[in-house]
Amino acid sequence: MNPLATPLLQAPLAVTRRVLRRPSPLAGRTVLVTGASSGIGEATAYAVAERGAHVLLVARRADELERVRTRIGDRATAYSCDLTDGDAVDALVEQMLAEHGAVDYLVNNAGRSIRRSLALSYDRFHDVERSMAVNFLGPVRLTMGLVPAMREQRFGHVVNVVTWGVQVKAPKFSAYIASKTALDTWSRIAGRETFFENVTFTNMRFSLVQTPMTAPTEAYAGRGATPQQAAARVVRALEDRPLTVGTAAGAFGEVINVVAPRASDALLATIDRFFADSAAARGRSS
Ligand SMILES: NC(=O)c1ccc[n+]([C@@H]2O[C@H](COP(=O)([O-])OP(=O)(O)OC[C@H]3O[C@@H](n4cnc5c(N)ncnc54)[C@H](OP(=O)(O)O)[C@@H]3O)[C@@H](O)[C@H]2O)c1
Repeated sequence: MNPLATPLLQAPLAVTRRVLRRPSPLAGRTVLVTGASSGIGEATAYAVAERGAHVLLVARRADELERVRTRIGDRATAYSCDLTDGDAVDALVEQMLAEHGAVDYLVNNAGRSIRRSLALSYDRFHDVERSMAVNFLGPVRLTMGLVPAMREQRFGHVVNVVTWGVQVKAPKFSAYIASKTALDTWSRIAGRETFFENVTFTNMRFSLVQTPMTAPTEAYAGRGATPQQAAARVVRALEDRPLTVGTAAGAFGEVINVVAPRASDALLATIDRFFADSAAARGRSS
C-alpha cells in the first residue's frame, strides 16, 4: 500500500499542500454532487468545477439541473434521479460507472428537512418514512453502489451533508435528525471497513444555511451562512478528508448531552418553548 494514501496522513498532507500552494486534488477527478439543483449542492457544484473537477449533477428536477449544467459547461453532466426510488438509484449507478468509470468523490447532499413538533406529528408517520427515504436509504444505496469501484482503485472520498442536530438533538426535528444520524453513523462504520483501501468519509454537521429548505421557517429569516460559504466548507472537506466538520455549538451540545443529559433535556425543552411550529408545519402557508 502506498503510505501517502493512508487516511492517517490526510491532515499533514493538506497542510503541506496549502503551504506549498499545490493545485487542488479535485483537479481532473470525478465528483458526484446530489441535490445539485439548488442551495448548498448547486453552490458546491460550481465550486468543485472551478477547481478542475468533472461534476456529476444529480437531483429530480431536470430543468434546474440543466440550468446548473449550462452554467458550468463541459465539466458537468446532469442525471435526473429520485433518490427515494431504489431501482432508479441502481440504474443511475450503472450508467455513471459505464460513462465515467469509478466516481472519485461523492457528496451526499440531497435531503429534506422537516421541522414539526411531536404534538403535530401523531397522524403523520409518513414524515418519518420520507425522511428516512431521502436522507438515509437513498444516499446509502448510492454509496453502496459506488464504493466497490472506489475500493478497487484504492481511492475515494464521501462527504455527507448532515446537520449539527446529530450532536445537539434539537426538539421538533425528531424525524429529520434521526435520519441524518443514521447516515452519520452508517458512514462512520463503513469508513472503518474501507480504511485500508483509502476510501474515507466526512460527516459535515452544518448549522443554519440560507437555502430554499430553510425559507418556510420564519424563525430562521436573515440568519445563517450563505450557500457559497457552505460550499467552500464542502470543498475543503473534499480536499482534506477530515472525519467530521462541525461547529463549536454542535460540539458543545454533544459534550453536554454526554456529561449532563438531564440538564441538557431541561435546557432544550426550555428553549423549545420559545420557538413555535412554523405556519408551514401547522399546515398553513401564512
Ligand atoms: N439549509 C440548512 O440550514 C441545512 C443545515 C444542515 C444541513 N442541511 C442539509 O443540506 C442539504 C442541502 O439542503 P439545502 O439547504 O441546500 O436545501 P435545498 O436548496 O432545498 O436543496 C435540496 C436538494 O435536494 C434535492 N432533493 C430533494 N429530494 C430529492 C430526491 N428525492 N431525490 C434527489 N434529489 C432530491 C433537491 O432537488 P430536486 O428538488 O430537484 O430533487 C435539491 O437540489 C440537505 O441534505 C439538508 O438536510 C441544510
